[in-house]
Amino acid sequence: MKVVTTIEELRNQLRGQLRTAFVPTMGNLHDGHLSLMRLAKKHGDPVVASIFVNRLQFGPNEDFDTYPRTFKADVEKLEKEGVYVLFAPTEKDMYPVPQEFRVQPPQELADILEGKSRPGFFHGVTTVLLKLFSCVNPAVAIFGKKDYQQLMVVRNMAQQFALPTKIIAAETWRADDGLALSSRNTYLSKEQRQEAPNLYKTLQNIAEKMRGGYQDIYKLEKHAKEELAQRGWVPDYVSIRKQFNLQPPTAGELAEKEPLVVLAAAKLGETRLIDNLEI
Ligand code: PAF
Repeated sequence: MKVVTTIEELRNQLRGQLRTAFVPTMGNLHDGHLSLMRLAKKHGDPVVASIFVNRLQFGPNEDFDTYPRTFKADVEKLEKEGVYVLFAPTEKDMYPVPQEFRVQPPQELADILEGKSRPGFFHGVTTVLLKLFSCVNPAVAIFGKKDYQQLMVVRNMAQQFALPTKIIAAETWRADDGLALSSRNTYLSKEQRQEAPNLYKTLQNIAEKMRGGYQDIYKLEKHAKEELAQRGWVPDYVSIRKQFNLQPPTAGELAEKEPLVVLAAAKLGETRLIDNLEI
């Protein structure tokens, strides 16, 4: 595997490649990321990964400085997966001058749920991704469903800018007890790690009730948040939304069995976890 840090080196490595499959990451790679690399291999060749902790998508009180950086271990894992090029720019390589041109995602998609709690988050994500796409020029790019709203925002961006990159969704990779794998899981204490799968269980309970015909989504969301709070979480949102645009379903859409997704974000101690489940 070639590890390159500058955009110029990256372009030299990828010159003439028309079927590149790209997996952007912020590093601290776990089995979930590695499953994305394997999916990438099925959709293109060569596979290119990036590791870049993107300051633009972190709020002033978020964990940019403490975000786990495990570069050496990450390189070994990617090498084992047969990744062809790893693009690992420094901040200076990525943003040699202040990034003043930025992507402005639509409010109705980017200022709800995650975007409401993390103002500017999707603005930072889309800006870095448009730049990464411009550097890698991938035929396909792989995104995990764990970050469901991110996937939707990126899909819309690719469509509206007519990017020549197909966005492919990968299923969430879970530990045996159901916890969605996330780099932030490493922040959890032993006790918190034991409690953490209950976020997914909460989503499963909601999905089960809805599949059984229960339709009072307001009550389901409220009850789920209360239950999480009782277990020691600080819930941010538990929201049942339409898969299509992440807006709340109307009574008519519920009756017509519109495809839904239940999304949740909650803090366990200082660690904010997110998860979702399609219904
Ligand atoms: O999901 C992530 O790890 C990041 O948001 C991404 C897509 C690599 C952009 O920085």
